Amino acid sequence: MDVIERVLISKEELDRQVEELGSRISKDYEGKELVIIGVLKGGFIFLADLARKITIPVDLDFISVSSYGDSSKSSGVVKIIKDVDTNISGKHVLIVEDIIDTGLTLNHLVELLKTRGPLSVKICAALDKPSRRKAEVHVEYKGIEIPDEFVIGYGLDYAGKYRNLPEVCILKKDVYSKK
Ligand code: XMP
Ligand code: MG
Repeated sequence: MDVIERVLISKEELDRQVEELGSRISKDYEGKELVIIGVLKGGFIFLADLARKITIPVDLDFISVSSYGDSSKSSGVVKIIKDVDTNISGKHVLIVEDIIDTGLTLNHLVELLKTRGPLSVKICAALDKPSRRKAEVHVEYKGIEIPDEFVIGYGLDYAGKYRNLPEVCILKKDVYSKK
């Protein structure tokens, strides 16, 4: 696709990372009641892969929040578009996200979910862009650290598209700077 600058993370590297995170999560939550909450839309591909590497029984649910419009810049506004259906009171919660960028989205989500009486709330993210952090968030299960580039693929979009790319790719700068 002509909006791709280059591939940043290959399918093989993603697979390896997902496998490792899945086995850590399976070990850590063995014998515990775990609700995994995927953050839509970006987290859906990562969660689909991760869930199949988890070897313990878990509840799966989804939440949809928006912090980004059609542009590549954060609006700083987090809005719940679709909430979970699961009662998380007395259960362990693991939020699964595509990427942590400023950390504002996750920070807000963790605080919100904590008001519902869970035993714990932890975060698993496929990608981490630490250079742009604005809010402090502890990511227990961190995937691959990436530089400050706008990425697409593996669930991540630009203006709603390219989530279906199997690799994580860097978006060409002129695609969004011309807007
Ligand atoms: P914050 O800044 O709150 O945002 O940590 C996390 C959300 O921002 C989106 N995001 C990106 N989406 N390519 C994308 O397609 C990127 O490089 C990127 N950086 C942040 C993403 O939706 C994530 O859930
Ligand atoms: Mg997202």
